[in-house]
Amino acid sequence: MSEIMMHTDVERILVSAEEIDRITTKIAAKIDEDYKNADGKLVLLGILKGSVVFMGDLMKKITLPVEIDFMKVSSYGAGTTTTGRIKIHLDLCRSDLSECNILIVEDIIDSGKTLSYLTEYLRINGARSVKTCTLLDKPSRREVDFVSDYVGASIPDEFVVGYGLDYAEKYRALPYVGILKREVYEKN
Ligand code: IMP
Ligand code: MG
Repeated sequence: MSEIMMHTDVERILVSAEEIDRITTKIAAKIDEDYKNADGKLVLLGILKGSVVFMGDLMKKITLPVEIDFMKVSSYGAGTTTTGRIKIHLDLCRSDLSECNILIVEDIIDSGKTLSYLTEYLRINGARSVKTCTLLDKPSRREVDFVSDYVGASIPDEFVVGYGLDYAEKYRALPYVGILKREVYEKN
């Protein structure tokens, strides 16, 4: 991608649109392979709002029949640091959880608290199986032991935006993942 198309608040592009395309193709093929003989329905559970762009691309590349659903949770405030508390803003309303192989789709894993909480929550509520898929992973930031089943790319400890990820609700529509300039959030 040319420099000219880069948002002025972005320091540098970390994962290009082309790279993301390769990542989603690879993960979709792996999901097809892993779930082809699974009993029950495959349900992609997108965590709003950050996962929507990734999930939209991923579901188009999965050839198995999939259903989609969403939950909205937050562990972050308006800034760049976690509160550590998970709050469910939109819950999953399904009566067929025992028939569902839930694949949680996330934008990024940071402390690991969101996905470890959700995985446990869905298991307790009777899902047939629960796995997780994340576009990005920041392993150096982990506060709880958590390993995702599918990971697009491991990245360093930088605050990133784009391809669904935001800072204060901005930058979600960028077609790439880029490091946000520090001055953008440090001035607030
Ligand atoms: P965790 O519970 O600490 O793993 O938090 C994961 C959530 O934090 C993600 O779903 C994002 O909403 C948010 N998050 C973590 N790192 C970033 C980042 O670099 N950019 C944007 N959002 C982030
Ligand atoms: Mg999120």
